Amino acid sequence: MSSAKEIVENTIKENTIAVFSKSWCPYCKSAKTMLTKDYPDAEIKIYEYASSCGKCPTRSDASLLGATYRLDEMEEGDQIQAYLAEKTGQRTVPNIFVNKQHVGGNDAIQALNKKGELSQLIKSNHLTTMVQAESDIKVEFDAKGMPFRRLGPSGLRVPVFSFGGWLTLGQSVKGDPCKEIIKTAFENGINMFDTAEAYNKGECEKELGRVFKELGFRRTDLVITTKLFWGTRPGPNASGLSRKHIIEGTQESLARLQVDYVDVMFAHRCDVNVPMEEIVRAFNYVIDKGWAFYWGTSEWTAQQIEEAFHIANKLGLQGPIAEQCQHHMFHRERPEAEYAPIYKKYHVGTTVFSALAGGLLTGKYNDGIPEGSRYDIEKDFFANTIKALKEPAGQEKIRKVRELTKFAKEELDTTPATLALAWIARNPNTSTVILGATKPEQLLENLKALQVIPKLTPEILKKIEKILDNKPEPAPTYGRPPLDLFGRL
Ligand SMILES: NC(=O)c1ccc[n+]([C@@H]2O[C@H](COP(=O)([O-])OP(=O)(O)OC[C@H]3O[C@@H](n4cnc5c(N)ncnc54)[C@H](OP(=O)(O)O)[C@@H]3O)[C@@H](O)[C@H]2O)c1
Repeated sequence: MSSAKEIVENTIKENTIAVFSKSWCPYCKSAKTMLTKDYPDAEIKIYEYASSCGKCPTRSDASLLGATYRLDEMEEGDQIQAYLAEKTGQRTVPNIFVNKQHVGGNDAIQALNKKGELSQLIKSNHLTTMVQAESDIKVEFDAKGMPFRRLGPSGLRVPVFSFGGWLTLGQSVKGDPCKEIIKTAFENGINMFDTAEAYNKGECEKELGRVFKELGFRRTDLVITTKLFWGTRPGPNASGLSRKHIIEGTQESLARLQVDYVDVMFAHRCDVNVPMEEIVRAFNYVIDKGWAFYWGTSEWTAQQIEEAFHIANKLGLQGPIAEQCQHHMFHRERPEAEYAPIYKKYHVGTTVFSALAGGLLTGKYNDGIPEGSRYDIEKDFFANTIKALKEPAGQEKIRKVRELTKFAKEELDTTPATLALAWIARNPNTSTVILGATKPEQLLENLKALQVIPKLTPEILKKIEKILDNKPEPAPTYGRPPLDLFGRL
């Protein structure tokens, strides 16, 4: 093996640019990008090695930036570093030589950073930048006792209650009232926010992005999820899950949200006209680019989720970590029965939506449609739902809401809304319940569900089942007895 001296001296030659850089260091990567730009005709010789230096980000910063910390070649790398330090009188990296002349190290790069160009360079190297000026941060997140759960099989922790903006943020709630709701959520332990490209044609994403900036949230404190499928405008490729729309739609969402990445990118529906392999590969590309950390599905059938996993596993790619599904006391078949094998086999998490059935479970629609409520403001969109409420099946739901209201008051000293939310949150397959609200007071009322969750004992749950009388049947075993308790279920 060549000595460190031989490697360095053989690399530094006339008419070349020699760069001695760390394999994982974003500063070194930026230097390489800058040199390639400034010396387009020069022969640039880059020697990458693994070592450590004083001014590079710490190991954990490096891994946050998406780089891999390589422990191999460390010894050789350290020898090269020592020889370069002796030769140049500097211990920093990268060490850049132009025509044998040592021109700089980290200081040159730091000057670049001051000009604000470093983050751009990091981005151009396909690394997600976490560079956020400390002066932009006005508030630190305090979980205030909010419980957190892993989102499915991933390491991402999500609050039991998160907040979403469908029909509200950037639509019925804009400007300062929107800021008030998000501030209330954040101050009460909610750091996860859900949106979608389609929510009022991108206005919800824009409103969230504006408010996050104005309130001065730290990006790393937030879990931001958005969804692709419906698009924001007509056009043959402006919606769906083609590779084209997944990539273009992601970039447009990030721009509206004013962020470099979202935490989870959901497929808002499955696109049966796109091969599943294209969908899986495109979401993995989005992840590899650092535009999202994970991907998920929304309202896919169990069979479609199974197919996505089959392909992801075959190709060694990342499968969806969560399904964003409708789940409430009157909508149980899919989340409780159809998905049962998916939870068991892939540990898929859920980010549950419409846990209050759009407000029905608060009891506000028991005696008609109150002015200013969702079904009033959006009467055209909900025409079928409103009609169905007047029919026998709808009236039966209202009867059950009345019974639940009485039960909640007498047995738990709470409201039907908090009971309905706690009931969903208690489900072992629920990762987070996405709350919806048009006023901060609704949000604060709904968060009282956190105190109701521990009160939902097996006896209480049995009584609730009796009122609901709609528990989905598990898959039949045709009379075969259950396995013993310690065996595999
Ligand atoms: N992936 C999907 O396809 C999908 C679909 C739907 C929703 N989502 C996500 O899930 C989130 C929540 O869904 P959702 O809005 O349908 O949830 P929801 O909890 O069923 O309904 C929320 C609505 O109920 C009313 N409400 C809430 N709390 C109340 C209270 N304490 N008292 C009286 N009324 C109350 C409010 O509407 P009014 O004040 O206007 O009556 C509020 O906007 C959405 O924002 C979105 O992020 C996803």
